Amino acid sequence: MEQVLHLVLFILSTLCPVNDGNHFRGGIISWRPLNNTVQGSTAQIQIHQRYFWNRTWFSTPYCTEANVVAQTVIPVGSYMTCLANCSSSTYTQITTNMVTTDCDLNPIIDSWAGEYYYTETLPLTTSITIGFPSSAWFLALYIGSGGNWAIVNRMNLASRPDGYINSSPVTTTLPVVFYPRGTRVTHVVQMADNDATDYLVCRWSNKNITTNYNRVDECGGVCSGLPTGTILTGTNCTLSFTLPTAKIYYGCALQIEDFFSSTYTTPMSSVPIQFLFYAYNVSAGACATAPAIIGVRPNRGIQLTETIEIQTYCPGQTIVDLVTSSPIGMTHSAISNPSPNLWIMTLTWTPIASQAGPQGFCAGAIDNSSLQSAPWCLTYLVDYTSPNLILPQVVQGSASPIATSAVGRPSRNGTNVCFHLDTTNASVLCYDAGYSPNVIYTGYTIVIVADFTWTPGQSYYVTMDSGFASGSVFCHAESAPITDKTFWRFDIWNPALSSTTTTTTTPPTTHTVTSLGTTTTSINTACTTSGIVVTSTNASTTTTTASTTPPTTAAPTTAGPTTTGATTESTIPVFYPLDFENACKQPVAIMSAVTMIAFMPLQALAMYAAFTKFTNMFKPSNIAAKARHQQRMKNILRR
Ligand SMILES: *[C@@H]1O[C@H](CO)[C@@H](O)[C@H](O)[C@H]1NC(C)=O
Ligand SMILES: *[C@@H]1O[C@H](CO)[C@@H](O)[C@H](O)[C@H]1NC(C)=O
Ligand SMILES: *[C@@H]1O[C@H](CO)[C@@H](O)[C@H](O)[C@H]1NC(C)=O
Ligand SMILES: *[C@@H]1O[C@H](CO)[C@@H](O)[C@H](O)[C@H]1NC(C)=O
Ligand SMILES: *[C@@H]1O[C@H](CO)[C@@H](O)[C@H](O)[C@H]1NC(C)=O
Ligand SMILES: *[C@@H]1O[C@H](CO)[C@@H](O)[C@H](O)[C@H]1NC(C)=O
Ligand SMILES: *[C@@H]1O[C@H](CO)[C@@H](O)[C@H](O)[C@H]1NC(C)=O
Ligand SMILES: *[C@@H]1O[C@H](CO)[C@@H](O)[C@H](O)[C@H]1NC(C)=O
Ligand SMILES: *[C@@H]1O[C@H](CO)[C@@H](O)[C@H](O)[C@H]1NC(C)=O
Ligand SMILES: *[C@@H]1O[C@H](CO)[C@@H](O)[C@H](O)[C@H]1NC(C)=O
Repeated sequence: MEQVLHLVLFILSTLCPVNDGNHFRGGIISWRPLNNTVQGSTAQIQIHQRYFWNRTWFSTPYCTEANVVAQTVIPVGSYMTCLANCSSSTYTQITTNMVTTDCDLNPIIDSWAGEYYYTETLPLTTSITIGFPSSAWFLALYIGSGGNWAIVNRMNLASRPDGYINSSPVTTTLPVVFYPRGTRVTHVVQMADNDATDYLVCRWSNKNITTNYNRVDECGGVCSGLPTGTILTGTNCTLSFTLPTAKIYYGCALQIEDFFSSTYTTPMSSVPIQFLFYAYNVSAGACATAPAIIGVRPNRGIQLTETIEIQTYCPGQTIVDLVTSSPIGMTHSAISNPSPNLWIMTLTWTPIASQAGPQGFCAGAIDNSSLQSAPWCLTYLVDYTSPNLILPQVVQGSASPIATSAVGRPSRNGTNVCFHLDTTNASVLCYDAGYSPNVIYTGYTIVIVADFTWTPGQSYYVTMDSGFASGSVFCHAESAPITDKTFWRFDIWNPALSSTTTTTTTPPTTHTVTSLGTTTTSINTACTTSGIVVTSTNASTTTTTASTTPPTTAAPTTAGPTTTGATTESTIPVFYPLDFENACKQPVAIMSAVTMIAFMPLQALAMYAAFTKFTNMFKPSNIAAKARHQQRMKNILRR
């Protein structure tokens, strides 16, 4: 029996062309509509591919950072094709020649990574599996060594239950994650989704073409590439396993699927993520503590310059490599050691218009005992229009701030709108936009019902905290704070004085308004006579800015909202996850909350990054392991 198997394998391997070498090391495929509103019968879909390769497999010269800078194309020479239900679409195959993003010369990593974005116009009937099956996986694998690879994604453009076109989940990973041999470890795979309310579950990729959502082989040789006893908790994509053998790699193949809510049983898309674990024997001289990345807060300009700071904990512990997974165009400096126990690499990146959308970045530092820091991953939101508040619009004698995109209430407390007395700057009235019923969000407009007795003849101005308005896109990006006294200034009409001091045609009849008991979704016209008269000089400004139709948000391909310093059209601003910090209710944020508990010293990082970090020393109790096993069985059985 075994001999027959060997024979078959032998025949298969001789059939494979020699230059289809053992060079595949994983990847990710995801997609999103450029505009998720249904318009007509087609949509523009941006498809993203990222693959990791054996650096020394492609012809010389092997890649270096110079290729990252030059954005050299990796000569893969193949295509991502349609694999199932192809008649439902007009999808045409996309090249798998990637633009170089990361090149790692460390002999253990030795990887060449690239990514490629391509936009196709596809009919909304599209319900296809796309993918890149070929051969072969590289040789030093625990399971699947030299086997075929398959990496597939399901694209279904049918309207979601909420009427929009779906976006697939997004994820990011290091090409190789190091863990010590023989130690139970917990590894969290990052999951996020543009459709913030989607319920995300990850599962093992599998070969069962009759039952899996993709209807094709999803993982080639690395299905169940991790040792037996590995437990996957799908709802938070957490793996728990023990790597049995040192100095080899373990292929991990997962599908991340998005469901409209936890009660739905059919996913809307299926995103593959395949990467490697590497097991090492902890050497006698190794430091007891792995290095840690202690990033510094990046600037928020057009060009991103971020310094990755790495802390080491032992004398002689040397950082030999920082393995990264970067967006196109991000360049990496050499690692420097400016002071004892501190190591630095500077990343520089100017996103271009076609990079609009979520852009993942991961880094992991490796010391000379092969200890790897916890992966440090964050998602940059490029060109996401966090709502810009523009000058208040006059509505029947009152004024309401309007926003550049549809807004909603921030989901956290502590975002205040305050009214200040112009003469002393003293705040006379504040509402917490997080819960106050006096702040009403309706479409593009925010109505503030000021329940206050204004002093006639006085001037007031309004300030708003960061996040006073939160947008309706990815994780609800938040508005910038308004502290400028002149942004929204108003006078209270003094009936004792001549009415010629204001240009208003309908002087307010009262200086107070009744408070509103409950939040409503439409403007209550009874509340709009607020007694606030906009100063005449600024009234004209506001009436020209405000129109009855809301301003259109910038399309992803155009320059984003203006930021100070934005001079060239080709550059676009980057919005950091700070903009939606605690407001973000989706898995990225939940994950970072977990991280904050596990990594108190690194808390500062959590301030701005939607990132994941996890300890490699986690030893789950048997009870927890059982619970995860049950969860896993449930996830398997639901399909
Ligand atoms: C990468 O490719 C080179 C050249 O084919 C090969 O010698 C090397 O073993 C490969 N690396 C791994 C880790 O498979
Ligand atoms: C194939 O595509 C059609 C049209 O979108 C869809 O109705 C059908 O469910 C798809 N079949 C499978 C097996 O996904
Ligand atoms: C696929 O799943 C079905 C249903 O669970 C099972 O009957 C079948 O044997 C599986 N096929 C393979 C190849 O595992
Ligand atoms: C993932 O979910 C399981 C089951 O709910 C839980 O026991 C585990 O702590 C979670 N892991 C993380 C990293 O949140
Ligand atoms: C790792 O350590 C184990 C246990 O000490 C040993 O059996 C094994 O040979 C070591 N492997 C390597 C590659 O050093
Ligand atoms: C790491 O490098 C330092 C400095 O070169 C050296 O002193 C130390 O012994 C090395 N540690 C290991 C485990 O190789
Ligand atoms: C915000 O504060 C209100 C009133 O104190 C409270 O009812 C609500 O639960 C708080 N919400 C959050 C998210 O903390
Ligand atoms: C009010 O604030 C402005 C700007 O912040 C400042 O220039 C001015 O001196 C302040 N006035 C008083 C009375 O504190
Ligand atoms: C009106 O608004 C403009 C633009 O913000 C500002 O320059 C001007 O000082 C304001 N005028 C008054 C009287 O506040
Ligand atoms: C998406 O399309 C709709 C309908 O044409 C349009 O109103 C909206 O502004 C577009 N959104 C973006 C971000 O371009």
